[in-house]
Amino acid sequence: MASSQLFPLSSTFYRLSLLSRLSLPFALTRLNPPRQKSGQHMTRVRSPLLPSSICLSASNLSTSPSPCRAVSNYDDLLVLGIETSCDDTAAAVVRGNGEILSQVVSSQADLLALYGGVAPKMAEEAHAKVIDRVVQDALDKAKIGEADLSAVAVTIGPGLSLCLRVGVQKARNIAGRFVKPVVGVHHMEAHALVARLVKQELEFPFMTLLISGGHNLLVLARDLGQYVQLGTTIDDAIGEAYDKTAKWLGLDMRKSGGPAIEELAREGDPHSVKFSTPMKQHKDCNFSYAGLKTQVRLAIESRKINAEIPISLASVEDRCSRANIAASFQRVAVLHLEERCERAIDWAMDIEPSIKYLVVSGGVASNQYVRARLNDVVRRKDLQLVCPPPSLCTDNGVMVAWTGIEHFRMGRFDPPPPADEPDDIVYDLRPRWPLGEEYDKGRSEARSLRKARIHPSLTSMIQASLKEQA
Ligand code: KG4
Ligand code: ZN
Repeated sequence: MASSQLFPLSSTFYRLSLLSRLSLPFALTRLNPPRQKSGQHMTRVRSPLLPSSICLSASNLSTSPSPCRAVSNYDDLLVLGIETSCDDTAAAVVRGNGEILSQVVSSQADLLALYGGVAPKMAEEAHAKVIDRVVQDALDKAKIGEADLSAVAVTIGPGLSLCLRVGVQKARNIAGRFVKPVVGVHHMEAHALVARLVKQELEFPFMTLLISGGHNLLVLARDLGQYVQLGTTIDDAIGEAYDKTAKWLGLDMRKSGGPAIEELAREGDPHSVKFSTPMKQHKDCNFSYAGLKTQVRLAIESRKINAEIPISLASVEDRCSRANIAASFQRVAVLHLEERCERAIDWAMDIEPSIKYLVVSGGVASNQYVRARLNDVVRRKDLQLVCPPPSLCTDNGVMVAWTGIEHFRMGRFDPPPPADEPDDIVYDLRPRWPLGEEYDKGRSEARSLRKARIHPSLTSMIQASLKEQA
C-alpha cells in the first residue's frame, strides 16, 4: 500500500444521495463502476464533501487535472485540517508520517468569559472573522501553498451547525479552487486518533476515554472507524461541570473553566466538602454530572460565596472556602471517571482481550490531576495510559488533519468540489452524530441514544459502505 499513487485516474468515486439518511461520510474508492442511483436530483443540499448523488467516472477524472499530487509514499501526504465545531477556530498542516508542520488556534475565550458559555451565533461570527487568517497562518507556518496539499480535512460533526458550516465552507472553497479531495472528520474520533500521531506504535484495538465540554465517552476502538460505545453521559459532560463550577466560584474564565479549577484546587482540601459520587447504584459505564453540579451550586450558596467578587479580590478566608469546593468537586468528578473507566476496561477486555492502552483525550484530559488518577487505574489493569500533550487534547487542527490522513490512506475521501460552488449551499453537517454503536450492556435507560441521534453513527455508516463494496 505504501507506494501506490493515492489518486489513481482509474478510480471511481461513489456517494449515496444526501436525501437518504444513510448517506456516507466519505466517498469510497471503488474498483467496480458505481451503480447509478435514481431520483437523486437535489441541488441545494451539499455534502461537505461531494455534491449529492454524483458518481465520478474514470473519464471524468482523466479529463480534469489530477486532484491530488501524485504521492509515491503515504509519508509524503500533506493534509490541512480545519476545526470549527465549537468555540476554537483551528487549522494545522500535518504530514502523512505524523510530522506537525504548523498548528494555529484562535480561541474565543473572551466571548466565553463574557457569556459563561458558547452562544452559537456569536461563535459563528467569531469563526467567520478569523477563519481566513487562521488557515493562512497555518499554511504560511508550514511554508506551503494550497497547491502543495494532498487533501483538506474538516470537522463535519458533532458540534454547532452554525460553527461547523464556517469550517466546511472554507475547506470546500480551498478544495474546489485547488482541486483537492476532502475528508469529512468526526470531531470525537479526531480526539481519539490524535493519540496515534503522538504514539506511533499505538495499534488497534485500544480503549479510549474522551472527555470534553460536550462529551463524555468510553469507547472501544476496534479498528479505524470501528467503535463500540461502552458509555456516555446521560446529561452533562465533565467539562461542562468544570466550566459551571468555575463560573459560580468567580474564577477567571479566560482560559476556560477547567484550567482555573485545576489551579485553584491545588490550594484546597479535596475532602473538606462532602459531595457524593454520581450513579453509584448504576453498575454500567455511563456518566452523569448534572447532580454533582447541583451539589456544587448548593455548597456555594450555603457558604455565601459571591461570584461577582472575582477570586483575585476575595479575602483569604473566602479564597480558602472556594479552593476547598474546587478541590472537592474535582476529586469527586474524577472519581466518577475512575470508577466508570475501571468497569469499561473490564468490558473491553471481554470483547478484545489484546488491548494494551487507554487513550484519554479531549480538553479535560489536559488536566494533570485527571491524568495522575487515571494512570493509577490503568496500572491496576495492567494497561498503559496514552494522553496527547495538552495542546492536542483541547480542540485543534492537528487532530483533524491526522484523522483525515488516516481515512485518506484507506481511500475514504471525496473528490474535489466544483470550483464555482455557491456560498449559500446547505451542507451535510452532523451536529449530533454518534461515534460508535452502543454496547448492549451499556445501554442507558435514562437516555436512549436512538432517540437522541439524528445521523447514524460513523461506525454504522462505514460498515454499511463496506458491505456495499463487498
Ligand atoms: O475538547 P475541548 O477543547 O472542546 C470540546 O470539544 O468541548 O474541551 C473543552 C473543555 C472545557 O470544558 C474546558 O473547561 C475543559 O475542556 N478543560 C479542562 C482543562 N483544560 C480544558 N478541564 C479540566 N482541566 C483542564 N486543565
Ligand atoms: Zn473537542
